[in-house]
Amino acid sequence: MSNPSPRKLFVTTALPYANGAFHIGHIMEYIQADIWVRFQRMQGNQIDFVSADDAHGAPIMIAAEKAGLTPQQFVAKIAAGRKPYLDGFHITFDNWHSTDGPENHQLAKQVYLDLKKAGLIATRTVEQFFDPEKNMFLPDRYIKGECPKCHSKDQYGDNCEVCAAVYAPTDLINPYSALTGSTPVLKSSEHFFFSLSDPRCVAFLEEWITGNDVDGKPHLQVEVANKVKEWFSVRSNPDGTTSEGLGDWDISRDAPYFGIEIPDAPGKYFYVWLDAPIGYLASLKNLLDKRGENFDIYMADPALEQIHFIGKDIVNFHTLFWPAMLKFSGRKTPNKVFVHGFLTVNNGEKMSKSRGTGLDPLKYLSLGMNPEWLRYYLANKLNARNEDIDFNQEDFIARVNSDLIGKYVNIASRAAGFIAKKFDGRVVTDWATADDAFISKLRNVAPEIQALYDQREYGKALRAIMEQADAINAYVDANKPWELAKDPAKSAALQEVCSRLLEAFRILTIYLKPVLPELAKQVEALLNIAPLQWADVNTPLPNAHQVNPYTHLMTRVEPKMLDALFDMPAVVNATVGVPTAATNDEETNNSTIEALAPEIKIDDFAKVDLRIAKIVNCEHVEGSDKLLRLTLDVGEGRLRNVFSGIKSAYKPEDLIGKLTVMVANLAPRKMKFGISEGMVLAASAADEKTNPGIYILNPWPGAEPGMRVG
Ligand code: 2FM
Ligand code: ZN
Repeated sequence: MSNPSPRKLFVTTALPYANGAFHIGHIMEYIQADIWVRFQRMQGNQIDFVSADDAHGAPIMIAAEKAGLTPQQFVAKIAAGRKPYLDGFHITFDNWHSTDGPENHQLAKQVYLDLKKAGLIATRTVEQFFDPEKNMFLPDRYIKGECPKCHSKDQYGDNCEVCAAVYAPTDLINPYSALTGSTPVLKSSEHFFFSLSDPRCVAFLEEWITGNDVDGKPHLQVEVANKVKEWFSVRSNPDGTTSEGLGDWDISRDAPYFGIEIPDAPGKYFYVWLDAPIGYLASLKNLLDKRGENFDIYMADPALEQIHFIGKDIVNFHTLFWPAMLKFSGRKTPNKVFVHGFLTVNNGEKMSKSRGTGLDPLKYLSLGMNPEWLRYYLANKLNARNEDIDFNQEDFIARVNSDLIGKYVNIASRAAGFIAKKFDGRVVTDWATADDAFISKLRNVAPEIQALYDQREYGKALRAIMEQADAINAYVDANKPWELAKDPAKSAALQEVCSRLLEAFRILTIYLKPVLPELAKQVEALLNIAPLQWADVNTPLPNAHQVNPYTHLMTRVEPKMLDALFDMPAVVNATVGVPTAATNDEETNNSTIEALAPEIKIDDFAKVDLRIAKIVNCEHVEGSDKLLRLTLDVGEGRLRNVFSGIKSAYKPEDLIGKLTVMVANLAPRKMKFGISEGMVLAASAADEKTNPGIYILNPWPGAEPGMRVG
């Protein structure tokens, strides 16, 4: 049955910075949005679900330069690593693009020109710190110095990590450039501003923030709207002072900058946050172009709903700047901005976007853990509020094993086997009685579950579904198919009981399909039916329909997998190529070097594929006092992640951009902090006391990433 009035939905997730791999915070957001999108698709609604890499800005430009790559090359390499995560967790974006794509350049310039035409662009002279050596203005995070309050050294330009003071970079004592170490000078330059303080903007935002969408539901969650109102209303504080209202927004940056050039303003670029959300539209346009559809016509459809899923850290950009930019450039404003909280792991560390440690998504997959366990578990925790949620390892095991497998999957294993073995796979559905009470109830909860999914109350939806599973299991216990199977005279009863169970299982599968799409596919194959849509709730299997033999649907999660996911590797140095065995002096001669390994043939050596690798990034590994995380380019069109126990010997910034030698065909190794995809070669003395150093190999000039060494 097709949906007579399908909704037309344009859905996005926040665009991740193209400066690193995804972490679990990204994956959680994508799973939240993907469940919603899949649910809407099952209703027969028309959806375009897009995202993109957020490519611009000073940090990416600087990282690329350190890596010896152009910013374009740098972001292309990051983009090449996205697929295993998205495919691995069954996240079905219709398009993945880049904010550096031509569509975004064109759209951002047009939005700007439209805002200018509306009289909402102003210019003003701004005085800022400038690095005379690097010849560039310094963003606050690249200025360091002594805290003006507690006098701690090496504090950032906007706040002190020691005493939490907030200040302007110009307040720092003895400021220096974090890029070159030089003393910054104050320099003036003309900046462009979006006049958010204009009464038109203020009036529009006041209305939009608290207003309702065409469906009568608010644009923003109540708790989000309340927070946002605080930011832009002018208020009298209890101490008699007045808080500023919404200020104008500085939207320009001076060259050198990786971004989009401002029309008629040579050397001036849009600040990354100006063109980032326009990237939503650019990714959509890119998709529509590929499909041969017209972007302007698509956007002009009054029925179109534009929906953004984002995290709580970027609310101001999406609820103030973005709606105002769209409104006053004459464009459609967002219908909804859905804000979620952060994910913590085992009551621990915040999984914000910038600090993604703890649960490595690729490590999760490489351990053979089922992605749908995580989808199911996170869905259980997710609700419509802007609240943090916690990944708890015991709870994860309980939800997956007791609910998902124990209550749901087991229904199929209890019923399908008998139908296949004893009845040639045929179900009966021309039951003399109407639906049993448990099946009627099961069908009748469809609207409730539907509403819960639509409102992003996934936890409540799953609890309602599991209540139904409990009722089905009670029916199993009451009718005991295994007992019926013992008595040939009860064969018809057995077929009917098991058929009813398979029908119930089919309906449960419809309800769970947005969360468990791959499992649903397996069930569709087992039941020998077309892909399930929501409307199929009321279309039972035909009488005498033949199902396929039962094959196992899902395994239980083993606690040791969780231990492996969060555990430290036993031997850190094994990935590093730093010998750990001490020399046995008694057995060797007086040589000061470590004893040689047994002789090998050239063929043995040939098995080891040594390659030149470029260290495109290097960083500390939070929680490890030995390891550095290296991002290596071996010329394969993707980057490798390698952990190396060289922290005692090198500062990350000293290694970035350097060439080294790696074992490129070493099996990937799971470590506490992620997967290590190779080993970097380094020399060290047999006896640390003689020489405690660790020396990374470095080829002569001329060697290039990917060259074989041997
Ligand atoms: O905070 C971030 O990770 C940004 N890259 C999000 C951008 S969302 C959108 F505006 F592009
Ligand atoms: Zn301080």
